[in-house]
Amino acid sequence: MRILVTGSSGQLGAVIASMLFKQHSVIGADLAPGRFTSRIGDISDSDFVSSVTKNVEIIIHTCSLHAPHLKTHTRKEFIDINIHGTLHLLKSAIDNGVKRFVYTSTTSLYGHAMVSPKKAVWVTEELMPLPRDIYDVTKIAAEGLCQIFAAQYRLPCVSLRVSRYFPESDYFMAIYRLYRGVDVRDAAKAHILAMNAEIETYDVFNISSLSPFSREETQDLYKNAPQVITKHFPVAENVFTKKGWKLPKRIDRVYSIEKARAVLKYRPENNFDLFLE
Ligand SMILES: NC(=O)c1ccc[n+]([C@@H]2O[C@H](COP(=O)([O-])OP(=O)(O)OC[C@H]3O[C@@H](n4cnc5c(N)ncnc54)[C@H](O)[C@@H]3O)[C@@H](O)[C@H]2O)c1
Repeated sequence: MRILVTGSSGQLGAVIASMLFKQHSVIGADLAPGRFTSRIGDISDSDFVSSVTKNVEIIIHTCSLHAPHLKTHTRKEFIDINIHGTLHLLKSAIDNGVKRFVYTSTTSLYGHAMVSPKKAVWVTEELMPLPRDIYDVTKIAAEGLCQIFAAQYRLPCVSLRVSRYFPESDYFMAIYRLYRGVDVRDAAKAHILAMNAEIETYDVFNISSLSPFSREETQDLYKNAPQVITKHFPVAENVFTKKGWKLPKRIDRVYSIEKARAVLKYRPENNFDLFLE
């Protein structure tokens, strides 16, 4: 198949393209050069978008300004790239008879809805987003565009609300895998599952690592997280102590991936237990 991957020089886009290029004809589009980027250009430029979408069957749209750009880019730039860029791609998808559109969204858009004074928030796709900043606003708007194009033009669209995969210290990478982080390879695989899923109009999924916690544990996670973690992983405290780390005292949210597991058959492989090993 001919697949357009936007943001193909970025962290996620490059991993998706690397997983696809042996079996498919991949067109990588990005502002910056990269191993999997064949077309350099700006997705807020509608002519560039028209030219890269010719004869394409699937679009995987990862490119975006995101959290690190809040300090360096204006709100207008966020709107131009994240909203207008997505709109150009959706319009071109219709013009070119694209069969499926996969949009990389973010769990960040739940924003203030992830704050509770009493218990960890159990974050499913049903939780109403409460944006904190222009990044969240533009990702919500872009999801909305996918939704209306799916409804009006019968273009099957999937939004993946991906959790955090920034390269950071081993400590944070380990604890985030318990409740609010993912390995970029698992996030990339979710895009390929979404690309192949039989979704006729529009759907949205959280994509994160496999959390050991359940909805019944949200109060205990907020009051005494080490106790709950030790219940699931009796060796965790010992492993953490050996590294000079402490288990987090409080866990404030858990990203639920139940829907992606059920519908997309998403099975993340790089979870907290791998860090313990
Ligand atoms: N990094 C995370 O932890 C994280 C978490 C959740 C969701 N996401 C989402 O994942 C997606 C990919 O993020 P990433 O971490 O790979 O980011 P990245 O910054 O590594 O890659 C983004 C790529 O997009 C390109 N780009 C930016 N503006 C462009 C434009 N106008 N035209 C063409 N290309 C442009 C950049 O050059 C870059 O190569 C984004 O949609 C982001 O919102 C990221």
